Amino acid sequence: MADGTSFYITTPIFYVNDAPHIGHAYTEVAADVLARWHRQAGDRTWFLTGTDEHGQKILRTATANGVTPKEWADKLVSESWYPLLDTIDISNDDFIRTTDVRHEQNVQLFLQRLYDAGFIYTGEFEGYYCVGCEEYKQESDLVQGTGEYVGQLVCAIHSKPVELLQESNYFFRMSDFAERLLALYEERPEFVQPESARNEVIQFVRQGLKDLSISRSTFDWGIKVPWDESHVVYVWFDALLNYITAAGYGSDEEAFAERWPATQIVGKDILRFHAVIWPAMLMAAGLEVPKRVFGHGWLLVGGEKMSKSKLTGIAPSEITDTFGSDAFRYYFMRAIAFGQDGSFSWEDLSARYQAELANGFGNLASRVLAMVTRYFDGVVPASGPAEPADVAIQETVARAAADADAAIERLAIQDALAAIWRIVDELNGYITEQEPWVLAKDEAKRERLGTVLATAVEGLRALSVLLHPFVPKATTKLWSALGAEAALGELGAQRIGDVGTWGQLPAGTSVAGLEPLFPRIEAVAE
Ligand code: MSP
Repeated sequence: MADGTSFYITTPIFYVNDAPHIGHAYTEVAADVLARWHRQAGDRTWFLTGTDEHGQKILRTATANGVTPKEWADKLVSESWYPLLDTIDISNDDFIRTTDVRHEQNVQLFLQRLYDAGFIYTGEFEGYYCVGCEEYKQESDLVQGTGEYVGQLVCAIHSKPVELLQESNYFFRMSDFAERLLALYEERPEFVQPESARNEVIQFVRQGLKDLSISRSTFDWGIKVPWDESHVVYVWFDALLNYITAAGYGSDEEAFAERWPATQIVGKDILRFHAVIWPAMLMAAGLEVPKRVFGHGWLLVGGEKMSKSKLTGIAPSEITDTFGSDAFRYYFMRAIAFGQDGSFSWEDLSARYQAELANGFGNLASRVLAMVTRYFDGVVPASGPAEPADVAIQETVARAAADADAAIERLAIQDALAAIWRIVDELNGYITEQEPWVLAKDEAKRERLGTVLATAVEGLRALSVLLHPFVPKATTKLWSALGAEAALGELGAQRIGDVGTWGQLPAGTSVAGLEPLFPRIEAVAE
């Protein structure tokens, strides 16, 4: 159970070469659900997201569009990346851009400290580089190209040719840290998750680490190396530091001490940066490594990672315009086990929307409130003595809350939802069995009718609280229809740990009717 400690959670920062697709939104939603849950668990939560704006990839896109890279980044951030947060209802506490002064200054500070401590030297670099990944590649990372790239080696992720670089650069002595990294993975098995990702990282580091080229001098869109302004900092070295520059490193040491280290959510394609390079950088600077790094899977299209560059990207608004942000959030958290790949399908989304959200949860809420309105003039009735079926509902709620909390702790978001959904299913079963509409016909059963509806209303209270991190809009509507806002205060301030305490919504509370939480959808986009 969360215990009021500090919970700092991050998403990767997103490249601004293009607008977001649902793969990016997936990362954001997962981190947002975890942040909202921890806030409701009473932890001092801080949720960071942002944009990665330097490097060749952005420079080339901007040049191709006839604007400066900063103009391009400003446009994409204001027209696409900020609006994404609204589209999928993200509750971030901060948004860092790598072009922020607070970031640039403290990247330089960090680098200077590493330089002064002897972790940086000048060397020659020769090797392959993928601009799509902004990554130096080893031959084992490359595959034979197909189509127009037949006969060339291409990046396995982007399917595009890599470039041969030959430059004089600054290097970070990453090779010094292989042993310490292996010891870290050993001592803290939860540091890299899931297990498959951890094994891969250990395999990789066991082969030995090379020093890392951390500057470029052939273009200038980046943060200047403080002691040599003819170089800019390698974009990944710059980007990884966002997690600490935003948290106060170099500018607000008190805030930094309170927040860092973080739980870091990343896609599996960028796990090595976060589980190898990043902790090595932190170790060199004498800072703590992250609490844990979790590599989630990809949204696939035709078996491949969805991507704008391969023209398979679906804009999040294509889904939310029809289904709403709650359905988007619910669907991706429920249908894909966090840590595994998953395929998006309109049919699956549509089926789950109808069966689980509209029929399962939405109808339950509308029916219960309609019965309170019809049989008790819209006022929550008093409960009489509890029968075993009523107690069973109380127990289901308590168990679901504990199971969901434990699942969130291990970042098994889909298991948390499944645990909470047991309440939806059991409450639906309870109402079918208790038949309040039959009880209502017999004046002698009036007290029993009150108990059944009061139990159902309490179940809805608990569901509002537990589902709030997943479907914030629908649960807020339900909370207000339950009259809970007035009786118990804001939904976001309700504690997960208290949800099982029965009888919180007092008898006599006035409820309101409820429009369908998940209205029927007439036509679904193909
Ligand atoms: N800028 C770097 C991250 C720097 S963090 C210090 C980057 N940006 S990105 O925009 O390409 O990707 C950001 C995140 O989106 C990554 O976690 C990536 O895995 C995720 N996704 C991009 N496409 C995705 C899917 N098709 N499916 C799921 N997540 C995907 O990498």
